[in-house]
Amino acid sequence: MTTALITGATAGIGAAFARRLAGDGHSVVLVARDEKRLREQATELHDRHGIEAEVLSADLSTEEGIAAVEARLSDTRHPVDLLVNNAGFGNKGEYLEVPLADELTMLKVHCEAVLRLTTTAVRGMRERRRGAVVNVASVAAFVPRGTYGASKAWVVQFTQGAARDLAGSGVRLMALCPGFVRTEFHQRAGMGTDNIPGWMWLDADKLVDAAMKDLMRGKSLSIPDPRYKALTGALKLVPRAVLGGVASRTGRKYGPR
Ligand SMILES: NC(=O)c1ccc[n+]([C@@H]2O[C@H](COP(=O)([O-])OP(=O)(O)OC[C@H]3O[C@@H](n4cnc5c(N)ncnc54)[C@H](OP(=O)(O)O)[C@@H]3O)[C@@H](O)[C@H]2O)c1
Repeated sequence: MTTALITGATAGIGAAFARRLAGDGHSVVLVARDEKRLREQATELHDRHGIEAEVLSADLSTEEGIAAVEARLSDTRHPVDLLVNNAGFGNKGEYLEVPLADELTMLKVHCEAVLRLTTTAVRGMRERRRGAVVNVASVAAFVPRGTYGASKAWVVQFTQGAARDLAGSGVRLMALCPGFVRTEFHQRAGMGTDNIPGWMWLDADKLVDAAMKDLMRGKSLSIPDPRYKALTGALKLVPRAVLGGVASRTGRKYGPR
């Protein structure tokens, strides 16, 4: 029996990972802030799949929250074999419109928490010579688009670099770069989505299926959809100045009105 710890497991992509991994027979440790929602989800996964489902209520924008998850990942009696660093959020608005405190919170959740949780998990995995980490980034990592895109670019660079350093250790790391996915993300950030064409939306469960296939294949970067593979490939051919303009106009569209 293996155990997966998923951050941001109560909604969207994280909940889809929890469903998929529980369905595959893994025990799960569900991490998010809303304890009631965590408990309801753990009960449902346990009842449906007969697996152990632990809950760990933690706010990853705080020192105590990150330390609590580090402590769980360090528990050698109940090792975690797969870590999914998925918790994240968006801030609406352009640079200087978003309060600096909110940008710093984003860096804490998207970068500091991911660095610390990955490092803690990987130390144990390397000793056991097996394990995997999926760090959820975004295709926004490939366009110049504020702190969100910059934080996700960090996730991609960090994860691929660490994967290279750990080659042959039995530990795999993969950065997952979704495009637009129907979750609570945009609503929570107060972002309108009317202008996003229907063909750009991905389904969270299908995204997770594709990501798990990529992880099994040993990829360190997963862009799990042919539409977004083509788009990110095309982005490499566009000059950065043009890309910056398009990304900034897109930010205005989806930002505050
Ligand atoms: N949806 C998209 O279009 C899209 C595209 C590319 C990448 N992504 C990335 O995918 C990941 C998941 O996003 P989603 O779309 O599934 O969003 P979502 O539906 O809003 O779910 C976010 C999850 O993260 C948890 N969370 C948020 N802040 C947290 C904190 N400070 N500490 C602990 N948990 C926290 C939430 O639970 P609580 O509120 O209970 O804490 C929730 O479980 C994020 O990293 C996001 O950047 C999303």
